Amino acid sequence: MNLDAVRTVAVVGAGTMGNGIAHVFARCGYRVILRDVERRFLDRALETISKNLDREIKKGMPVMVLVEVIRALQTSDTTFETTMKLCEKLEKKPVAVADSPGFVSNRVLMPLINEAAFCVMEGVAAPEAVDAVMKLGMNHPMGPLELADFIGLDVCLDVMEVLFEGFGDPKFRPCPLLKKMVAAGWLGKKSGRGFYTYLR
Ligand SMILES: NC(=O)c1ccc[n+]([C@@H]2O[C@H](COP(=O)([O-])OP(=O)(O)OC[C@H]3O[C@@H](n4cnc5c(N)ncnc54)[C@H](O)[C@@H]3O)[C@@H](O)[C@H]2O)c1
Repeated sequence: MNLDAVRTVAVVGAGTMGNGIAHVFARCGYRVILRDVERRFLDRALETISKNLDREIKKGMPVMVLVEVIRALQTSDTTFETTMKLCEKLEKKPVAVADSPGFVSNRVLMPLINEAAFCVMEGVAAPEAVDAVMKLGMNHPMGPLELADFIGLDVCLDVMEVLFEGFGDPKFRPCPLLKKMVAAGWLGKKSGRGFYTYLR
């Protein structure tokens, strides 16, 4: 398909990713069809999009430029090239990655978060200390445990399970502390408690 022929995009799922993707396309003048399983999820997404548009106009929003483009075995050259060009048209930076558990982003990031959780579990350091080492010593903008709370500990655990099952390699074993915290409902920022506590 030719890039100029793309005028309408369909976004399936109006959650965290879906509302952001719909937002980016709509802002660039595309007609967007957003689908979800229940009306209330669409209402919530529309509310988020209008709030974010408002904030973007007033303050400018920090946005991620990366699009990790996953090329599966059955992806044609035309689909792949059109997708790469479409990302550039949206002023994003597409990076082509093969289809493999966790791709690059989750395969590199989540074991870092998981290992940080092991450090806390084994009493090597408190969450504040782990995050301080990574921020002050490695110039990471956020510590791994702050980031884990922000992403959601349930999401981090799900990704570790996908990596563990996908590779069958013990190096991806989810940290037992992470499992316990998720079972206790300590999911990070969204639940008010994770490695840190949050006022709600
Ligand atoms: N959140 C992230 O940072 C991130 C980053 C990269 C990739 N992803 C991937 O993107 C996908 C979505 O993640 P998310 O964080 O937006 O999840 P989310 O749970 O916030 O949203 C998913 C939405 O999809 C809807 N949905 C489920 N089944 C559907 C169906 N059959 N038809 C239509 N809608 C359906 C759900 O009701 C929900 O609103 C996941 O596969 C995730 O792994 C997420």
